[in-house]
Amino acid sequence: QIQLESTDPSSELDDIAHHNYPKVILQADKLGRSAHAQILRILPKPKPLVSSTPEWKRLQRHAVENIQSMHLRDMLQDTERCHSMYAEHDGVYFDYSRQQATLETMDLLYDLANKQELMPRIRGMFNGEKINFTEDRAVLHTALRASKDQAGTVFVDGMDAIAEVHEVLDQIKKFTEAFRSGQITGYTGKRMRNIVSVGIGGSYLGPEFLHEVLKTEATGINSSLGYSLRFLANVDPVDVERTCADLDPEETLIIVVSKTFTTAETMLNARTMRQWLWDFMGDDIDVVRKHVVACSSISATENVKAFGVDTDKYFFRFWDWVGGRYSVCGAAGAVPISLLYGFDLFEKFLEGARSMDQHFLNAPMNKNIPVIMGLLGVWNSSFMGYNSRALIPYAQALLRLPAHIQQLDMESNGKRINRFGVEIDYPVGEVDFGEPGTNSQHSFFQLIHQGQTIPVDFLGFVQSQHDLLMDNEKLSSHDELMANFFAQPDALANGKTAEEVRAEGCPEELVLHKVFDGNRPSSSLLFPQLSAYVTGQILSLYEHRTAVQGFIWDLNSFDQWGVELGKKLALDVKEHLMEARNNEVGDHEIIADNPATSRIMNYYV
Ligand code: F6P
Repeated sequence: QIQLESTDPSSELDDIAHHNYPKVILQADKLGRSAHAQILRILPKPKPLVSSTPEWKRLQRHAVENIQSMHLRDMLQDTERCHSMYAEHDGVYFDYSRQQATLETMDLLYDLANKQELMPRIRGMFNGEKINFTEDRAVLHTALRASKDQAGTVFVDGMDAIAEVHEVLDQIKKFTEAFRSGQITGYTGKRMRNIVSVGIGGSYLGPEFLHEVLKTEATGINSSLGYSLRFLANVDPVDVERTCADLDPEETLIIVVSKTFTTAETMLNARTMRQWLWDFMGDDIDVVRKHVVACSSISATENVKAFGVDTDKYFFRFWDWVGGRYSVCGAAGAVPISLLYGFDLFEKFLEGARSMDQHFLNAPMNKNIPVIMGLLGVWNSSFMGYNSRALIPYAQALLRLPAHIQQLDMESNGKRINRFGVEIDYPVGEVDFGEPGTNSQHSFFQLIHQGQTIPVDFLGFVQSQHDLLMDNEKLSSHDELMANFFAQPDALANGKTAEEVRAEGCPEELVLHKVFDGNRPSSSLLFPQLSAYVTGQILSLYEHRTAVQGFIWDLNSFDQWGVELGKKLALDVKEHLMEARNNEVGDHEIIADNPATSRIMNYYV
């Protein structure tokens, strides 16, 4: 609307073109063809690709002319550099001295960040600007963990986002207290002790990773005594079987977590679980009202009601300004985690995330951990040419963190069109993977040491959740674990030369096999102890790393159109499968004009 009313084609329109170009075009589309053409004529061209800016080109030159001829082994001898390349916040220590970067690299990256207006765009996200423009939505997962006294500071379409968040958190607190005190019982009057959370993608991975951490956390162990929590995500019937085995339906509460409440897998699993309840307790809608809780968006309320959920008491809402993969701090995580561990422990998780949010929002770039992590992500991916990266927590309780971060990041930045609607010509988005150390050292680390170069994030903890010290051992089991956390980054960075191998008396024919080139980048993050609070910090760190990279790359990191085609084709296949089963089509013609799929489906039917 602004541009239609504007009479000044230079300044205001220029600003619109740079910040809102796709939104303007979307609006123009709605107005029809001629308005579209007219608007395109008067609008200045969209901002050029970031890859054509002098800041980007300087970094490209710097990578080729300076960095590629340097070795981390030598860089790590530079004491000033080692003492500069770290940042700290609230107990979190971040060391990036083993990245293939110098202080000059960092300055050039900060220049690029300034060019891309990184800090204003971060503020815009926190303030509720509709930066997810393809869906016309704000991106406010940070509001999910804002404190109550921040209410009245962030509005979306006139709604006080933080006040809304706390209304739902209060509702969850009351519900979980009633559940855990036995006030809320099941259909047959039995106390419910088992919780099954049904959801997929972001509605599952975040809560599951948090659950795994709290399982062995001191407060978590005590507060979950007598209760159990399982997740049902896959539409594979075997997942249902594995989830329900040995559960008593009369004592089981089902949580259906789905932002849209239409996701095919989740809805089929939800219907399966409803039937499971009915099979044991009778086909009564009250069974659903007493045993099924929904965490979903307000716009899905009618679907939730139609499923049979008691929407007055058993419905916990979130908003379209919370993306599925960013929803663990909302009802999606709050309900299952608080039911199992109590609301207070979940609140600690929110507090940790809030602490990191504030750091991200306020710290200068050169001391800002998520900003530096994001800029190094851009550096490694777009300038150094590394298109994968690994996340290695030296904490077994973080075994599901890599899977969560994988979805978070790959669904966010796996894009090819920038925010001005133009196809990009620079590499973006990494393949993220990981496993806890030391297990990972005995699986894929061979490739990381001597095969491809894959930047690694190592996560370690000063104190274990539970340490072990055997009588005849000098160091504890946690020390043993952490020795690896300290050793691996140096092994990757320094490597081992042929001379060093020979000096160990290695037979000449094996020397080359035992050489490690080194020069493999990594960062190390050290935290005090793995608690709910620290887990909140870790989550926020990685959410913001993703946002930083998206901002620099000019992407919309908050939509996910790329998953739609597969969903649509699965629907088509289902129809063809039914036709084939009903013998409505002949052999090899299951899908017309698709001989390959028809052929393999033929084996199936
Ligand atoms: O895989 C696509 C996706 O939309 C994810 O972004 C989301 O987390 C997941 O499906 C589940 O969606 P919903 O919460 O709407 O069921």
